[in-house]
Amino acid sequence: MQSNNKNSDTEKERMMKRLFMGAVLFASVMGIGGAALAADGAGIFNAKCVPCHGAGGAGTAMAPAFKGNEFIASSSVEDISAVIKNGRAGAEKKYPKFVIAMPAQKSLSDEDVAAVASYLKTLAE
Ligand code: HEC
Repeated sequence: MQSNNKNSDTEKERMMKRLFMGAVLFASVMGIGGAALAADGAGIFNAKCVPCHGAGGAGTAMAPAFKGNEFIASSSVEDISAVIKNGRAGAEKKYPKFVIAMPAQKSLSDEDVAAVASYLKTLAE
């Protein structure tokens, strides 16, 4: 009897351990999921901006570089965000050598725009 009781205790302990490990695993998976949901400036840049602004913000024949870019380095995230959201076309254009306009990024949330603007600042340094 005694040994039976001991066995069932051990079984219970194993059960608790499994439950605990399950909870830890669940929590860490949720943690990673939460981080992936937060705005990812680099991810947005690679998906939406690289075709014109080049990998790592090196610039292309179509759009200016962010590397060493004076405007990006000296402007606030808010001012950079305004350009990203509204674009730059027509008389507002700054660079005559780039024929096309900067398209307004209407599909991005304010949070996404701020995240990508902060990311541009890391490229400009
Ligand atoms: C279709 C090409 C294209 C895409 C895509 C594009 N841009 Fe641009 N972007 C331009 C052009 C062209 C300019 C220069 C406009 C001008 O003459 O002022 C520009 C200018 C900018 C500027 C101002 C730079 C400066 O030196 O004044 C910022 C900031 C910017 N883009 C951010 C972004 C971000 C962030 C994305 C992605 C979410 C993006 N752009 C996607 C073409 C593009």
